[in-house]
Amino acid sequence: MPDPFAALRDRPRVALATLPTPLERAPRLSAELGVEIWLKRDDVGSLGLMGNKVRKLEFTLGEALARGAVTVVTLGAPQSNHARATACAAAKVGLHAVLVMGGEQPAGPPTGNLLLDALFGAELLYAGTDDWAQLAATVEAATEDRVNAYPLPAGGSSPVGALGFAAAYAELLGQLSSEDVRPQRVYHASTSGGTHAGLMLGHALAGGGPAAFGFDVGRIVPDGPALTAWLANEAGALLGADVTLTEHDAHLDLSQLGDGYGAFTDAGIEAIDLLARTEGVALDPVYSAKGMAGLIADARAGHIDGPVVFWHTGGGPSLFAAGWGERLLPGA
Ligand SMILES: Cc1ncc(COP(=O)(O)O)c(C=O)c1O
Repeated sequence: MPDPFAALRDRPRVALATLPTPLERAPRLSAELGVEIWLKRDDVGSLGLMGNKVRKLEFTLGEALARGAVTVVTLGAPQSNHARATACAAAKVGLHAVLVMGGEQPAGPPTGNLLLDALFGAELLYAGTDDWAQLAATVEAATEDRVNAYPLPAGGSSPVGALGFAAAYAELLGQLSSEDVRPQRVYHASTSGGTHAGLMLGHALAGGGPAAFGFDVGRIVPDGPALTAWLANEAGALLGADVTLTEHDAHLDLSQLGDGYGAFTDAGIEAIDLLARTEGVALDPVYSAKGMAGLIADARAGHIDGPVVFWHTGGGPSLFAAGWGERLLPGA
């Protein structure tokens, strides 16, 4: 049977991540929740403390280099994992990174992801606003100002970036087959949609396998399901694949949003505590903890029948951001 993922090999790509990332059983968490849980560890890897963004950057920076770019321009909140991963990957391949940051420059020395951005030599531009549309306009202007600059949207979620998660889906299928485990669902945190779109595309290309269940942690786009379906279809078109997905194919759950992007939730803080104490695995409060909180809620509600995978998308460096420790462990 022909390989449905073969066209991915024709795309420009730079090797950045240590792949495959581990797929591990989580026995103590499984016993706690009464469901069989596997962890797909994208938080583990060599490049700049890893995370899901590295997979997208393999394809986006591959394209940037193929086009002769010398600079890459992107955006994010100050503790953005995507901005940090971009800064790191750019350093590795010899590109200059310009990071358009939301808000004002935080007072004091850089901490968490901002410390890493500085270490990786990125140029930071504070936009003075948190409005995502204005940040995107600043990226556009900075791209035009520079010679041979390649722009990346929020979270690296362009159709090219989403290819990273179609490739990741193929990687997961290979590991599931070696382990002889057949989960129905893959749980993960979602924001800019590229992870979910890539997994949806991978599922469509494979013609089966576990479905992606994303928990929106920020609602930074008004219509997540429509954007995600568009990203998946455009990414499929890049591969010459005959794939037509609609917003009804996206499983994006808003139940873990809380007060929106960057707001910690009690369920997220409980998820951090539970995974740390049962498996020795760290989650971050903005993204991965809300994804795990969604899985925990589904397990407790009896919505999970059979094994499931939690895709750990990374984010750990933000735990070391100034002031976050006190918010996670008040009084400690
Ligand atoms: C740790 C982490 N998990 C999940 C996500 C969400 O991924 P996506 O933007 O592809 O929806 C992000 C995005 O920044 C992230 O940093």
